Amino acid sequence: MDENPRLKLAVQKSGRLTDPSLDLLNRCGLKLARGKDQLVGFGENLPLDVLFVRDDDIPDLVQEDVCDLGLVGLNVLEERRLELAARGAVARFEKLRDLDFGRCRLAIAAPNEARFDGPETLRGKRIATTYPFMLGRYLQTMDIAAEIVTLSGAVEIAPRLGRADLICDLVSTGSTLQANHLREVLTVAESHAVLIRTPVPLPAFKAGWVERMLLRIDGVERVKESKYVMLHAPRSALPAIRKLLPGSESPTIIPLDGFPERVVVHAVCRENVFWETLESLKQAGASSVLVLPVEKMLA
Ligand code: PRP
Ligand code: ZN
Repeated sequence: MDENPRLKLAVQKSGRLTDPSLDLLNRCGLKLARGKDQLVGFGENLPLDVLFVRDDDIPDLVQEDVCDLGLVGLNVLEERRLELAARGAVARFEKLRDLDFGRCRLAIAAPNEARFDGPETLRGKRIATTYPFMLGRYLQTMDIAAEIVTLSGAVEIAPRLGRADLICDLVSTGSTLQANHLREVLTVAESHAVLIRTPVPLPAFKAGWVERMLLRIDGVERVKESKYVMLHAPRSALPAIRKLLPGSESPTIIPLDGFPERVVVHAVCRENVFWETLESLKQAGASSVLVLPVEKMLA
């Protein structure tokens, strides 16, 4: 039996969840020593090491007890769960926490120039995706027969290559779709980051550290960095702008004196506002965009 067991936590190697996952661990007090291109980060001050892996591998690494913990998108978990269910198997990873980052949606997108009049338009079409099980379930609930083209990546270029009519992929900021002349037409599922654990009981030392990390994560999530965003926009751009504001509930819309077609938007965004978001906001018609830190908030 290992005298000094260390927790192993799987994190996405490179992608949307990598930076926010490392940021969360950092806020929880973890100092990680990691050489360039190294697949394992060593916790210098805590008995916790981080394994950098493909996000799609995380559910199995955790349910097969190769890693004790995993930070992964609900989308990846749900796809794996459905895939196992289709084979009569049951997913064994256990969810510990829903986390306040990595929000995105699995959405169906169509080429900008293609006609789309609602779900019926999907009938008989080819839809490219890396999420065949989630898409399959969606089509089934909608009672729509369409062809699912399962790809392992680069889904966004499938329509241009003539391999599919539409795609079903994750949309976060929307910049991938925009860059590929696609537009979001239907939401299949919402997603966010999730902390999962092995189904195997942990020895006391490790279990104690999982408890401590959970307390720290809860603390971090409570005071999570929020941003106050102010901007000017044409009234007509409001629907697009509301979609772009990350994690904002209901923005305040104020008329702009002397400009009946323009408004001021104030919103509290519960997620970090990145330059990419500001650029997308500008593209959507926003101007005079200000982002301020929120110091305290009382709900
Ligand atoms: C997703 C998805 C898109 C991108 C969309 O990739 O496959 O490429 O994010 O984000 P955007 O709307 O902000 O442009 P993810 O990081 O989840 O990695 P993976 O799908 O390659 O595993
Ligand atoms: Zn992936």
